[in-house]
Amino acid sequence: MKRLSDVKRIGYGAMRLTGPGIIGPPADPDEAVRVLRRAIDLGVDHIDTSDYYGPYVVNDLIREALHPYPPELVLVTKVGARRDDAGAWLPAFSPDEIKEAVHDNLGRLGVERLGGVNLRFMDGHEGSFEDQWTVLADLRSQGLVCELGLSNCTPEQVKIAQDIAPVSMVQNAYNVAHREDDDLIDALDDQGIYYVPFFPLGGFSPLQLGTVDEVAAKHGATHMQVALAWLLQRSPNILLIPGTSSVAHLEENLAAARLRLDEADLAELDAIAA
Ligand SMILES: NC(=O)c1ccc[n+]([C@@H]2O[C@H](COP(=O)([O-])OP(=O)(O)OC[C@H]3O[C@@H](n4cnc5c(N)ncnc54)[C@H](OP(=O)(O)O)[C@@H]3O)[C@@H](O)[C@H]2O)c1
Repeated sequence: MKRLSDVKRIGYGAMRLTGPGIIGPPADPDEAVRVLRRAIDLGVDHIDTSDYYGPYVVNDLIREALHPYPPELVLVTKVGARRDDAGAWLPAFSPDEIKEAVHDNLGRLGVERLGGVNLRFMDGHEGSFEDQWTVLADLRSQGLVCELGLSNCTPEQVKIAQDIAPVSMVQNAYNVAHREDDDLIDALDDQGIYYVPFFPLGGFSPLQLGTVDEVAAKHGATHMQVALAWLLQRSPNILLIPGTSSVAHLEENLAAARLRLDEADLAELDAIAA
């Protein structure tokens, strides 16, 4: 299995392959399967997922569409939450819940080892973070997980975790308009830790920015391609997992890897958040 250090800069975030509210099956399950297979055809070697998307819907679709997996595919999941019958996101941080979630993701995806697991913080986080991270470190030592990461985390939590087991990636919200993590990204780059932004295209409120439109028009590119190209050029430790439920959008997003923004573009885009 590849390591994160070997994957392409643009992967795929699978959260969108559900019904509304990240609950239940997608409106078009056949298109969801096509999206996953097209991603692999186009060279995607990094897919972000979780058992709590659906719940289970996305992992089941990934297995249906892609198993047996290409050997180079890195599947990264998340633990630390569960869904109730109404779709609410509930914390699931006890050591037993974390252990069970990793085993459940292994079973659902049908793999003996996960490429990565992120411990995702959320409102209502409880218990000792050190104990929770130690559970994941043990599972990694047992060979069930290749690399570990933190999501929705602070720089202090990264520091504490690093003293227990290596942090390979951080997954926080970040895009051209929301840059609260600027300092963290640079600090992680210095330490050789990948930063995998979620909501790279604005998430539930897709980006709509005049400046991005102007740069896109100059390059004959799309708004979303400029947003992704800006992230790729922002820092070499950024790996992307844009989410989509459509083959057309997937193809558009992956093509952003070929877009080069010049210094003038970058200055204009940088000014959006200033
Ligand atoms: N760790 C965490 O707490 C956390 C939280 C949220 C997400 N994530 C992960 O991060 C991944 C990315 O985040 P995300 O999917 O929420 O947000 P995103 O990638 O910023 O945006 C996805 C939204 O943009 C639309 N979109 C995608 N490509 C487009 C294009 N080329 N043109 C126009 N619209 C486009 C999608 O709609 P269509 O489906 O119509 O394309 C969808 O509504 C997720 O898939 C998930 O794996 C992690």
